[in-house]
Amino acid sequence: MEALTAPILGLGASAASNLAVFIPALVAAIAYYQYDLLDPEARIADTSTDELETYDFIVVGAGSAGAVVANRLSEVEQWKVLLLEAGGDEIEISDVPLMAAYLQLSQIDWKYKSEPQGQACLAMKHGRCNWPRGKVMGGSSVLNYMLYLRGNKKDYDLWESLGNPGWGSKDALYYFKKSEDNQNPYLSRTNYHSTGGYLTVSEAPYHTPLTASFVEGGRQLGYENRDINGEYQAGFMVAQGTVRKGARCSTAKAFLRPIRLRKNLHIAMHSQVTRILIDPTSKVAYGVEFIRDKKLHRIRATKEVILSAGAVNSPQLLMLSGVGPRAELDKHKIPLVQELNVGENLQDHIGLGGLTFVINRPHSIRLDRIYSVSALMQYTVFGGGPLTVLGGVEGLAFVNTKYANASDDFPDIELHFISGSTHSDGGTQLRKAHGLTDTFYEKVFGPIADKDAWSVIPMLLRPKSRGLIKLRSKNPLDYPLIYPNYFKDDFDMKTLIEGVKIGVALSQTRAFQYYKSTLHKFPDCEGFKDYSDEFYECMIRLYTVTIYHPVGTCKMGPYWDQEAVVDPQLRVYGIKGLRVIDASIMPTIVSGNTNAPVIMIAEKGADLIKEFWVKTARYGRWARTRKM
Ligand SMILES: Cc1cc2nc3c(=O)[nH]c(=O)nc-3n(C[C@H](O)[C@H](O)[C@H](O)COP(=O)(O)OP(=O)(O)OC[C@H]3O[C@@H](n4cnc5c(N)ncnc54)[C@H](O)[C@@H]3O)c2cc1C
Ligand SMILES: *[C@@H]1O[C@H](CO)[C@@H](O)[C@H](O)[C@H]1NC(C)=O
Repeated sequence: MEALTAPILGLGASAASNLAVFIPALVAAIAYYQYDLLDPEARIADTSTDELETYDFIVVGAGSAGAVVANRLSEVEQWKVLLLEAGGDEIEISDVPLMAAYLQLSQIDWKYKSEPQGQACLAMKHGRCNWPRGKVMGGSSVLNYMLYLRGNKKDYDLWESLGNPGWGSKDALYYFKKSEDNQNPYLSRTNYHSTGGYLTVSEAPYHTPLTASFVEGGRQLGYENRDINGEYQAGFMVAQGTVRKGARCSTAKAFLRPIRLRKNLHIAMHSQVTRILIDPTSKVAYGVEFIRDKKLHRIRATKEVILSAGAVNSPQLLMLSGVGPRAELDKHKIPLVQELNVGENLQDHIGLGGLTFVINRPHSIRLDRIYSVSALMQYTVFGGGPLTVLGGVEGLAFVNTKYANASDDFPDIELHFISGSTHSDGGTQLRKAHGLTDTFYEKVFGPIADKDAWSVIPMLLRPKSRGLIKLRSKNPLDYPLIYPNYFKDDFDMKTLIEGVKIGVALSQTRAFQYYKSTLHKFPDCEGFKDYSDEFYECMIRLYTVTIYHPVGTCKMGPYWDQEAVVDPQLRVYGIKGLRVIDASIMPTIVSGNTNAPVIMIAEKGADLIKEFWVKTARYGRWARTRKM
């Protein structure tokens, strides 16, 4: 007890804003008050290598998709399922919503970086954007900002119209609702939401007064306050997130902890798959090779291997296994098993970071006010307070630029409203997470270091530019090369500039002028006329931020689509017993954050597998009967 109160009390006095003191104190308090155990489910058991056997299904990656797939497949008692994950279990800090950015560059992040492209991310070290990805049970759903969004109905109707039957908006809605346990009684009564699913969705229990201004400001711009995951998408809303009792609800927590006693599901952590075993003549996938405890192991699957390693690693694993573009595999001397456009069609959501408005009241979230004993106690004892804010994001909106048809309800920009800005944590983490150079950070944020501020990240919803994932080498431990090609298509820049203008217009509403909200300019862009397109373009090219939604690198499409890697049943073309189920199958990126859509894809993918094997079993029985 004393050992514990000491660090917490120590925090109150001199070192309140000292992160080196705050984080250990928070961890200690979580452990002491067993906040973690408010969650009824205990931790997942790790299966040792000796206990591993042969399985019906092997799922690679326990992320947003893989956790769901493993749960749904192991509902069938006769099926033995193995889930392999490169990372370990979640940590205490990953439960705390406001601390989301602190997970980046830690041991549970793969710590990828994009290749420099000279046109974007110019304020970042070596012109490279950080590309965090979760390396942990729950994958990127453990690192993410927890925002719960589904995209626009038209996204899924477009998928269907591209030749993917069963992927329209009605099908998507069925699967969104299947996972969902929405805690908001008003929303759960509508046709768009449900309760009783594995995934808890709710608002943060705490809000700064700025949240109300955001919704009010939206109204003053002519947008309704409505459920942006409901009938219409355009509008402003207090953010909903994948949170349970004020703590993060990752897919590991939602889908794996409650079923940890199922005997037919084995989970092996710290197991990095290096190759899918495919018989080159029959083209049947029959298992995987993986590294655990520095040793190479092989495990067989009798029915299917399912790749859920995410939009960076799934294409990498396919290429390492001989499935990919011929030239790329030849270059690395990997024998070609099946030629497919793996790694292409990369799409990501980008926006402008650091669009900061300084205010004249102490209403924003600031490190020196948050890292206090009271915030810590509110969180660990009551599951409330500012530490429950979803990575600092309190409000969300979908808006139309002049390029969108406003009567179509297909907005082209999303606004993330943050009740603070890059400097609000005193420069301790966000600048690092965004990879900003010290010079840029000091020049822009030095002068407002102690000022209250809010910010908005305008995000381009449907970029036209396409990027690429390539192999660095044939060594599976080498990181793949990421070429996002941000703004390769000039229309993306034009649209995002208009999006930034809407963010600035929001600051000029009465709701935000109440705080005398003032745009904080980047000194490097002073050569351009204030508020001109060139002025905004300069800001965007410098402080380009990925919203961390890479998708599309194993595109789903019909057989006549030359770019398609998987068919509408998510089976890899030309290979038997191999599917991809994760963010990489999206043919086009959805108009919203990608976590819930990936969970939806996994729910549907698992059903497709069940349907397939039930049919096969019936046919098998029928065939046997006929022979007799
Ligand atoms: C910092 C951040 C913030 C985000 N914020 C939001 C948000 O607020 N709202 C939202 O909707 N979306 C958000 N996203 C995006 C969302 O979380 C992702 O789109 C989603 O998690 C992707 O799911 P996935 O299953 O495709 O991949 P992942 O969840 O990344 O899962 C892949 C899993 O496979 C494992 N793996 C990879 N390679 C191997 C291998 N070779 N062997 C074994 N295991 C392997 C990984 O370790 C990982 O656990 C955010 C993402 C990040 C990174
Ligand atoms: C805008 O959308 C509406 C409704 O879908 C449609 O009727 C109209 O033709 C569209 N206008 C333009 C200019 O495309």
